[in-house]
Amino acid sequence: MEHLELAIPTLFGLEGLCADELRRLGLSDVRAENGRVLCAARPADIPRVNLNLRTGERALVLLGSFPAGDFDALFEGVRALPWEDFLPRDAAFPVKGHCLNSALHAVPACQSIVKKAVAARLGAKYGLEQLPETGSLYQIQFAIMKDTASLYLDTTGAGLHKRGYRAVGVVAPLRETLAAAMVMLSKYRGRDPFCDPFCGSGTIAIEAALIAKNRAPGLDRSFSAQKWGFVPASAWMEAADEAMDKEFDGEYDIWGGDIDPKAVAIARSNAEKAGVEDLVRFEVADALSFHREAPYGKIVTNPPYGERIMEKKEAEDLYRGFGKAFRSLPDGWTLSLLSSHTEFERTFGRNADRKRKLYNGMLKCDLFLYGKRGAQHEKKR
Ligand SMILES: C[S@@+](CC[C@H](N)C(=O)[O-])C[C@H]1O[C@@H](n2cnc3c(N)ncnc32)[C@H](O)[C@@H]1O
Repeated sequence: MEHLELAIPTLFGLEGLCADELRRLGLSDVRAENGRVLCAARPADIPRVNLNLRTGERALVLLGSFPAGDFDALFEGVRALPWEDFLPRDAAFPVKGHCLNSALHAVPACQSIVKKAVAARLGAKYGLEQLPETGSLYQIQFAIMKDTASLYLDTTGAGLHKRGYRAVGVVAPLRETLAAAMVMLSKYRGRDPFCDPFCGSGTIAIEAALIAKNRAPGLDRSFSAQKWGFVPASAWMEAADEAMDKEFDGEYDIWGGDIDPKAVAIARSNAEKAGVEDLVRFEVADALSFHREAPYGKIVTNPPYGERIMEKKEAEDLYRGFGKAFRSLPDGWTLSLLSSHTEFERTFGRNADRKRKLYNGMLKCDLFLYGKRGAQHEKKR
């Protein structure tokens, strides 16, 4: 089992960033597809991927794919996979999955066939009629697409976006993986002043701080595969040591503002939980009067869209006012702003230099990218 294949699901639009992250971690045969990235890995890479990835949703071991046009083919295909190489005799192995464009489309029926086939295989290998399922969790996932079944083991558990720092019950928070992606797309490297004037629970500023100091986002949480026999316990320690060795100490100018004092209090407490409270300042502030004297800096932000928090018209007034504030900044400021509002550019008062399609959950958004104004003039000349 030295050679495994990992599948990393991502939010749509983040596949390329996630593939780059995997390459930087030294994984080979990295392939970005629609909504996921595949790569070759050794068992010892499982801790490294889980601890370090900022933009992937989870790490799945792909056990195999085969044609599954009917229940018999599904049962036999699942039973033929070497489950005993991965699951011990007491493994708990719940099954979940989905079907798309396939003859097999009833998920609960497929779930129970997969469960029976794995139980049949393990029962025969371990000489047990009844499997106890009292041990560690090995979540099985299946996907049946265009009559091909793929079977996975979920190494992660709670999604990788759950870094462990965010309070529950916040209105309209941004997924941590998407916030990290926005910071990466802004090309923030920890040098420039960094601001999020609509910071809410502080996710973007906190992810910026983690990126600035190169802190692995998974160091404060646990993963399903920590209890798995085929991933050596020493590999988790080594991956954590390796990640901590890569951390920088430094001074960063990272700021988040929000008009709502409750949001600011939550953001401060989240930053404390993430261990970056000394790197990020949060303040109650109106984005419409956002101003800075510094000649350059980066704004990465996610204002209300007019879908969930406030009405469309109010969102437009906000964009108009924030557009004015942005234009009054020195020329070296750049802006990366996520919105699903179709009239964003018009109300903001300037067309973006570039746009990138991203999904905030199921909501289709654009990341509007505004470069340095000086640089834009230079380009035009
Ligand atoms: C979509 S939420 C941001 C969510 C945030 N990215 C997070 O992860 O929690 C938008 C935020 O803008 C804030 N807001 C609305 N009007 C504002 C204004 N004029 N100035 C500053 N913040 C404002 C709201 O209070 C809300 O917290």
